[in-house]
Amino acid sequence: MPGKLRIGVLASGRGSNLQAIIDAQEAGMLRADLAVVISNKQDAQALERARQHDIPDVFLDPKPFAGQPNGRQAYDEQVLAVLRKHEVGVVALAGYMRIVTPVLLGAYRYQMMNIHPSLLPAFPGLDAQKQALEWGVNVAGCTVHFVTESVDEGPIILQAAVPVQEDDTPETLAARILVEEHRIYPRALQLYVDGRLRIEGRRVRIIR
Ligand code: GRF
Repeated sequence: MPGKLRIGVLASGRGSNLQAIIDAQEAGMLRADLAVVISNKQDAQALERARQHDIPDVFLDPKPFAGQPNGRQAYDEQVLAVLRKHEVGVVALAGYMRIVTPVLLGAYRYQMMNIHPSLLPAFPGLDAQKQALEWGVNVAGCTVHFVTESVDEGPIILQAAVPVQEDDTPETLAARILVEEHRIYPRALQLYVDGRLRIEGRRVRIIR
């Protein structure tokens, strides 16, 4: 019997989505192995969460690459080497605050997901919840999508909507969206593990 699919998580901060993935895995809702957590921030809480669950954690310092020609690609070569070493089959970006280069995109084409706190294609980029409030939308939400060259534009896998309330601040809205992020990210990964995601153009079809 082939081994379980191995997930690598890239995270820069708090790591609550990582925690949701870990919890789903430990509860048997996500039938894959967590192979490694990599961060570009030494003090990322995500790394601490990994350690607490005996998942290998790796800090890769971007500083030596800053300002170098092709520094971002060279950094991603290092990330790729770690992913390969841990035999990662699918990569989950979870609050990863770097733009991934073709080095990683080529190696993990349609094998790399991201979660974004808006109903894409609305409000890509930073501060999505603030953008949603500024636009006065009534419905906000989150999106899990495959990662492609264009930031926050890859084929959409799952989305969840949440209502916007009259007195919402970016923080209260973010908290309501986060609950849904934690629900759909492990589900999207399990769909991938089950081989149920088919890319058709820019669409993802979920096979029953
Ligand atoms: C989440 O809102 C996610 O959608 C966005 O960055 C945030 C990461 O939060 N990409 P956490 O580190 O998973 O808690």
